[in-house]
Amino acid sequence: MRTQVAIIGAGPAGMFLAHLLARDGIDAIVLERHDREYVEGRVRAGVLEQVTVDLLHGLGLADRLDEQGLVHGGTNLSLDGELFHIDMEGLTDGRTVTVYGQQEVMHDLFEAADERGVRIVWNAREVTIEGADGTAPTVRWREQTGDQYEVRCDFVVGCDGQHGVSRKSIPASVQREFERIYPFGWLGILAEVPPVEDELIYANHERGFALASMRSPTRSRYYIQCDIDEKLEDWSDERFWDELCLRLGPEVGARVVRGPSFEKSIAPLRSFVAEPMRWNRLFLAGDAAHIVPPTGAKGMNLAVSDVAILAEAFVEHYTENSDAGIDNYSSRALARVWKAVRFSWWFTSITHRYPDMDGFDRRMQMAELEYIRGSLPAQRTLAENYVGLPLE
Ligand code: FAD
Ligand code: DHB
Repeated sequence: MRTQVAIIGAGPAGMFLAHLLARDGIDAIVLERHDREYVEGRVRAGVLEQVTVDLLHGLGLADRLDEQGLVHGGTNLSLDGELFHIDMEGLTDGRTVTVYGQQEVMHDLFEAADERGVRIVWNAREVTIEGADGTAPTVRWREQTGDQYEVRCDFVVGCDGQHGVSRKSIPASVQREFERIYPFGWLGILAEVPPVEDELIYANHERGFALASMRSPTRSRYYIQCDIDEKLEDWSDERFWDELCLRLGPEVGARVVRGPSFEKSIAPLRSFVAEPMRWNRLFLAGDAAHIVPPTGAKGMNLAVSDVAILAEAFVEHYTENSDAGIDNYSSRALARVWKAVRFSWWFTSITHRYPDMDGFDRRMQMAELEYIRGSLPAQRTLAENYVGLPLE
């Protein structure tokens, strides 16, 4: 088999890239380790930046997004139960975010794949990449039948998340890794209850961080900061709701509508960047190259902006006979990645309770939040990062 671009991983990075390439007539194949139900069933991100929304429109894949997505022009911060609003739209010349779950995005990308000639191999196991430092890389995999297949290609793109095979296929001598592990996790639930507010609430409380988010007018997504070694079975729904309401404060807490959770999970928090994002004919995109803590909802959006940059570079290569975009990919993508890493790290640092925090550290957090509350320039800085920096 032969193709122009072999894509490993059918998450947001892999599927956006496959659709962008198909639109411009570039042949590609996506190799995914799991099946569609598994990928579509993973509860992950919930907030889309303008760049991601624009891209879905550009691909003609925004019908359900337009119908069901909740456009948010603002967000709320809360300090020890006292809420204040940030008018993101007013502060950023009309930019907004859209609440639309990653699962819905994946559904839309998968539904349109067949009719647009986007080829996906499900259950592709034991994927290996060879010859990426030469002129004709080969990707091999095994299917469920046990049979082995291979595809020769011009380029390989690793969109296979943080534990994939692509990053590990790059020699350690040419990669640098940067990492920060946070001393806490997020315990999240989904419940079929109306959200407590029309817009999100990021809450800093003495007892730790809490986030009130949503998936629809009838479905809420709530998170609370927890210890990294916390056990899910120790968190009954009742205990979760009680803790959430404490952290949101008496006024908001009293308005929270409780109900049985139908999803509950703990996610660790980590910042990670691998540089560069290209090694010869192998490119990394999305979580394969970088991880951010979820605070600020940057993870999926970064995956999408990486492949938007990369797709442009491939189009230049195939239609304009220029490798300038390919040669610039890593530095252009990393410039944006580091800004999102900084923002997620900073937003985490002002909203979470750190185990070694003393009275001084806590006062610094409170002063920072009070400063944001009272300063429009500070709010504008937060807002322009939150809605997403433009693709440069
Ligand atoms: P992924 O979505 O990880 O997709 C990678 C794909 O590659 C997967 O389908 C995987 O099965 C496949 N794959 C892996 N290895 C191989 C292999 N060897 N061969 C073939 N296929 C392979 N972000 C937010 O913005 N907000 C959130 O609330 C949020 N919550 C999250 C919760 C969790 C538990 C996790 C893990 C992430 C969360 N994120 C969140 C981050 C966000 O979901 C990711 O940044 C986003 O999914 C990245 O997309 P991706 O395509 O790069 O990687
Ligand atoms: C969600 C997750 C985030 O990390 C965030 O900052 C906002 C919303 C969510 O899952 O809804």
